[in-house]
Amino acid sequence: MIEQSRDNAAITALWERLSALPRPSLAQLFESDGERVEKLSQRLDFTVEDADPVGIRLDWSKTHLDDAVLNAFEEMTNAAGFDAAREALFGGGIVNPTEGRPATHGAMRGSGQEADVEEAEALLARMGMLVEAIHAGALGEVNHLIHIGIGGSALGPDLAVDALTRDLKRVDVHVVSNIDGLALEEAFAACDPATTLIAVASKTFTTTETMTNAASALKWLADSGVTDPSGRVVALTANPEKAVEWGVDETRVLPFPESVGGRYSLWSSIGFPVALAVGMEDFRAMLGGAQAMDSHFRKNDGRANGPLLAAFSDLYYSRVRGCQTRAVFAYDERLALLPDYLQQLEMESNGKSVTFDGKPVDGPTAAITWGGVGTDAQHAVFQLLHQGTHMTPVDFIASIAPGDELDPAHHKSLLANCFAQGAALMAGGNMSSDGKDPARAFAGDRPSATILLDDCDAATFGAMIAFHEHRVFAGAVLMGINPFDQFGVELGKKMAKEVESGEGDFDASTKALMEAAGLK
Ligand code: F6P
Repeated sequence: MIEQSRDNAAITALWERLSALPRPSLAQLFESDGERVEKLSQRLDFTVEDADPVGIRLDWSKTHLDDAVLNAFEEMTNAAGFDAAREALFGGGIVNPTEGRPATHGAMRGSGQEADVEEAEALLARMGMLVEAIHAGALGEVNHLIHIGIGGSALGPDLAVDALTRDLKRVDVHVVSNIDGLALEEAFAACDPATTLIAVASKTFTTTETMTNAASALKWLADSGVTDPSGRVVALTANPEKAVEWGVDETRVLPFPESVGGRYSLWSSIGFPVALAVGMEDFRAMLGGAQAMDSHFRKNDGRANGPLLAAFSDLYYSRVRGCQTRAVFAYDERLALLPDYLQQLEMESNGKSVTFDGKPVDGPTAAITWGGVGTDAQHAVFQLLHQGTHMTPVDFIASIAPGDELDPAHHKSLLANCFAQGAALMAGGNMSSDGKDPARAFAGDRPSATILLDDCDAATFGAMIAFHEHRVFAGAVLMGINPFDQFGVELGKKMAKEVESGEGDFDASTKALMEAAGLK
């Protein structure tokens, strides 16, 4: 993006054009175009290795995107230099200008410059050897893994392990992120120290929460009579020297490149717990699914490009319709952690106030991502979606194949609820007998999109996550911001250290809180 040629005047004119366009309702859009579903839906099929073909159906027809809106966004991709930015992403260009780095997470799954892909393959082979050696008993009996990391070093592994190991778990994985000792104590209570490995996952190997938890985990092993606690540790990091210095034997340090961002690192050695729990074959299938999505994203333009179309929709609602939030509901327990994962991916990437070259942004950036699990959320927050005063674009995510083995009635009802919610948000109506009670009225015309997976297997899961990564990237390019830095987390980190040490000059409220809690 640093080399991107951006025509700011044209982009401003396009935002003005988008704001001035007529705003037909969803009902009118469906009425006026009998092919709307075909035009705004897409099925992406892909085959990974020898596995059966899998696919994802994307349906953006229940959004307010129409030809006029899409034409303007397609023009905006040209004005924003989208093609060049996309090539820079996969070509190892400096797409993270504030840190002077490329973003090579694509290379981790085979999409990138040859040298980066070769390096990734070698690192993956190294991880594969360790995973297979552990499965073969090289580190003795291993029944549990406590994976210690935070942010991008925890959210992706936690989600993937939960999504992919419901029916087969080769190792019982506990992901611990919080500095709150309760989180680690809970993992200790569930694990037998004699058969537990500790993974310390940190790109920098300096993050306070992770290093504090890692030290406590080693102490727990020692206190439990494990003779060589350090021998039970695997380090997953872009700072291997630091891990060795900390006491991890070099043979159990799994490095990844500095150019892989924390929230994009699931594909690297940060995915070690996933590989240990599902096996290397499925881990590679996850990478293969992501690579298939990379190819789709690279080869298609405009509205034919699924992640780009989703980014058009995101920007339309945040910038043109003034929506401050975007909700994601997983109608699949396996994806219960997806909203948490997407919160970091979207908000840490695109929650910015300046452009990639340091100027104030020309409109709102990332919407606030929130969400939950269907059908639970229907009985909690959907009231606001249906009758509240906010317009909240919603993503529904479901899998055609069930994850459970109970009566098929469960899954049928789950999917029926998922589809019915999107239909109800759009249709509106009145639930009173005379159709006149305002308290029972539903305005309707509320937008949603649906991502329908054939199955929640490793390959489809990988493709779905890569879809979201590219959606975020595409949005960043259109907004002209750098999605790969996260300086917004630094001030709080610095001040936490000052509060902890009691050194520094604080406001009266903070001082009073510190005194009340005995921190000063
Ligand atoms: O606090 C922000 C952050 O830097 C995230 O971007 C990152 O995923 C997380 O902290 C953890 O960092 P590390 O992997 O270096 O421990």
